[in-house]
Order: sequence, then C-alpha cells, then structure tokens
Amino acid sequence: MADKIAVIGCGFVGVSLSVALAISGYEVAGVEVDTAKLKLLQDGQVPFFEHGLDDLFAKAMATGKLSFSSDYSTAIPGATIIFAAVGTPSRADGSVNLDYLEGAAREASKYCGSEAVWVTRSTVPVGTGRKLALIFAQTDKTVAVVSSPEFLAEGSAMRNTFFPDRIIAGSDNPEAARKVIDVLRAIEDQGQRFADDDLATYASLYSGARTISAGAAPTPAVAHTPAPAAELVIGLESAELIKVSSNSFLAMKISFANMVARVCAASGADVTEVMDGIGLDKRIGRDYLYPGLGWGGGCFPKDVAGFIGTLASWGIETELMDGVKQINAAQIDYVKSLATELLMGTLTDKKITVLGASFKPGTDDVRESQSVILAIALARAGAIVTLTDPLAEPSTEIARLTAESPLTTPISFQKDLGTAVQGADLLILATEWPEYVNANFAEIGAILSQKNIIDARNKIPTGKLEAAGYKYKTIGGAKSNE
Ligand SMILES: NC(=O)c1ccc[n+]([C@@H]2O[C@H](COP(=O)([O-])OP(=O)(O)OC[C@H]3O[C@@H](n4cnc5c(N)ncnc54)[C@H](O)[C@@H]3O)[C@@H](O)[C@H]2O)c1
Repeated sequence: MADKIAVIGCGFVGVSLSVALAISGYEVAGVEVDTAKLKLLQDGQVPFFEHGLDDLFAKAMATGKLSFSSDYSTAIPGATIIFAAVGTPSRADGSVNLDYLEGAAREASKYCGSEAVWVTRSTVPVGTGRKLALIFAQTDKTVAVVSSPEFLAEGSAMRNTFFPDRIIAGSDNPEAARKVIDVLRAIEDQGQRFADDDLATYASLYSGARTISAGAAPTPAVAHTPAPAAELVIGLESAELIKVSSNSFLAMKISFANMVARVCAASGADVTEVMDGIGLDKRIGRDYLYPGLGWGGGCFPKDVAGFIGTLASWGIETELMDGVKQINAAQIDYVKSLATELLMGTLTDKKITVLGASFKPGTDDVRESQSVILAIALARAGAIVTLTDPLAEPSTEIARLTAESPLTTPISFQKDLGTAVQGADLLILATEWPEYVNANFAEIGAILSQKNIIDARNKIPTGKLEAAGYKYKTIGGAKSNE
C-alpha cells in the first residue's frame, strides 16, 4: 500500500500538492481549518481558480485517495510525511507571521508517528526550521524537519508541480531529505506518464501558458517533456534562504526594468528594445525584465518584506531591497502622473476604467495586486474609478487596503468589459489578460467619452491604438508592443 501523506493547509499550494500526490498514487489527508474552504473541498470543488486544476482535482478525488478534514487526530496518525503549506503572511511591521505554521506543528506533534518527516513547504524566514524542531523535540518522537520550498507560480501551478525545474530538500537528516525528494520525483514521474499516456492532460498543463504574466515566454511545444528537475539535498538554513532570495531577486529584476524604463522614457529609448538587448546576455536572461505596473500578489510583497526583516535582524544593509520596494511603489505614482498628463492636468471627476484586478492574468488572486492599489490611488486623487476583471472579484482586497482610511468615492466593479468602459475618459491596462490585450479597441472607442489609454503592461500593439485614434502612453517609451 502507498504511503500516507498529510498536507496541512489546503490553500493554493496545499491543494495543488495534494492533488498531484493523490494522482501519483499516495493516500493524501488534507487538513484545512477554514470551514468555508473545507466545505467546498469536501464537496469536490476547488476554492480558487487555477488553470487545469478543476479537472485534475476531479481525477484525484476519483482515485479515492484524497480526503480533506479539519481534524488533526485522524489526518496525522500514520502519515509518514507531513507537508505544511499554511500561510505565512506579513505582519503590519513587515515581519513574517509564523503563528499558523507553529500552531500546525504543535497540533501535528501531538498525533504524528515517531518516525514521521515534517516538511515545510510554506515560505519562511531562515531559522524557522530550528524553531519547529524545538516544538517536535518536546514530544518523545524523533521527527525530522525538512525544508522543501515550493516554487510553483500561480497560473502555471500544475505544470510547475508536475514539471518542476528544481527539487530541493534541506535538513540535518539526509535520509529524511531523500524521502522527500523521492516523493517529489514520484510526482515528476507522473508528469512523464501524462506525456506518455495521457496527452490530453499533458497538453492541458501547457495550454494556459499564454496567459502567464511575466511571460513573453512562448507556449512550449507539447511534443517534448522538460528535462528532469535538478536536485539539491542541502542544509536546512540553505533551503529556507533559497526561496525568499529567489523571490527577492525576481522582484529586483522587475524593479530594475522599471528603473531603466524611466531612463528610456526620458531619453527617447524604447524599453522593449533595451530589455531585449540586455536579455540576450545569457548571464542575465530575458525573463522578468518586464517593465510595467510592478510586482504584487500573495508572495513577492511579503517575501521581499520578510527578507528585509531578515537582513535587518542580522545587522545587514537593507538598501538594495528597500530600493526594490520603493521603485515598485513609485510605479503607481508614475502611472498616475501619465494619467494626469493625458487628462490635461487633473484627475478630479474623470472617469477612469482600470482593466484587470488580479495581480497577474490567469489567476483570480488579488492579494496586494498593483492593479487594485492603482485603482485606489486614482480614486484618492478624485477620479471616478471602475475596475473590471474577467475572473477576480476585488471588493474584499479594496476593503482591506482602505480599512484605515476609507475612500470618499467608492470604486465600482464591473465584470462585463462593455459596461465597465462605457463613458470612460481613460482606460488603463493594469493586468494583461488576453481579452484586454486583444480587445477590439476601435469598437470600444465608440463608447468612450475620450479615447485615452495607458498600457501599463506594454502588451497592446500600439499600431492598433493609433489606427483606432487613441492618445496613448506606454511604460518606458515602448513603441510597438508587437
Ligand atoms: N501562492 C503561491 O503562488 C505560492 C508559491 C510558493 C510558495 N507559497 C507559499 O506557500 C504558503 C501557502 O501559500 P498559499 O498561497 O497556498 O496560501 P493560502 O492562504 O492560499 O493557503 C493557506 C491555507 O492554510 C490554512 N491554514 C492556516 N493555518 C492552518 C492550520 N493551523 N491548519 C490547517 N490549515 C491552516 C488556511 O486556512 C489557508 O487555506 C505561503 O507560505 C506562501 O508564501 C505560495
């Protein structure tokens, strides 16, 4: 009989992992404390949108190997490996809140077997594994603590899960680390079986690729499978540090592109041409050199803040990452200034429609979305703002971000694009959903008050906008976006 594996925290990461494990043959007990989410999962529904996941979830449930509960006393006993995928959000001061993770470890320690392996899949500050080990040390069990960071990206989560580019396990206990690697390799083997025997599922893992944000990345050919993941069995602290450092580096690349974009706009250079030229250097690469509205989402903001906290706690200079954060925040003001320019000096009472609310296309995740933050900034500047998105619903995030200082004029949300743009003085492409990038701007122009648009993601071919008679602005003087 296949090993039993427990997955604590059935949000984005936990559900993706649980589904992959069950399809790969393991018996999986998911533990989730949010009662609304748990009910959906038990009823066979995924509580969030992720490309291809609904079908894989149904496949996993059909194996009879996947179950969800809130009860540690039934889920944890017998589990040889316990993955923790609970949230690790920022506190108000930017530090990482480990209460959920430590609480989960305390509960699990009561019920786990004496040879269980605990795997932290959540993103944590370096040093967390040692704290968790102390919790397990208070029991009479010899639980090994492993850090195996999760690298999936929303919008391509299942593809990243079945075809990861790296598998990392950090621990003092190499045998436990090896057990974790073996399980992750079993998921990869299942991905290979899709490629060999179930091409429909395999193709579906790739068909959403065109919607991935950072991605001028072309949809990979379905004719060949990616190379097996590189593997690292390393120390606990090293594994923990890799994840936050990776996300901080990617955020830095985006902020760097936005900094260069300002120079381009000022000097007459075209930022796309400049980034293409820089990206051809193999040491740098083209990925994430995408100037735009900046980075957001459930990971980068909290991981950058957490990394700054870690640096500060060790007395290490934080200037570099402070700058990365500042440039990101300044993109909102920059786009606001472009809007003011297009609208002849004032935003007051101007109708602005922000296209896109999710933090990137292909997801309904609006956590710390720059699109929502921009909409709020425009509303605070006196504009009458409408937000639209084909999938995401931003009202909870707007309420959270404005809780301390409520808006005088609320932002209205319209899912339907036609209704959202009716009578607008200005459109701003904030999230590059294909339905907006490829919209018929000539038709849309007919129902606007003024044909003004800011392409804050440099994705709409400017020729289309010119042909339809728009006044437009891009980021960093991007001239064609073809
Ligand atoms: N979302 C991503 O793209 C991504 C990618 C890589 C890593 N991560 C990291 O993975 C972790 C989880 O991220 P997520 O996006 O899945 O978060 P999420 O908020 O979607 O899910 C976390 C879940 O854990 C549950 N939970 C909290 N405390 C619990 C407990 N004690 N017992 C059982 N369940 C509990 C919550 O109710 C929630 O459903 C975070 O540390 C995040 O930084 C996320």
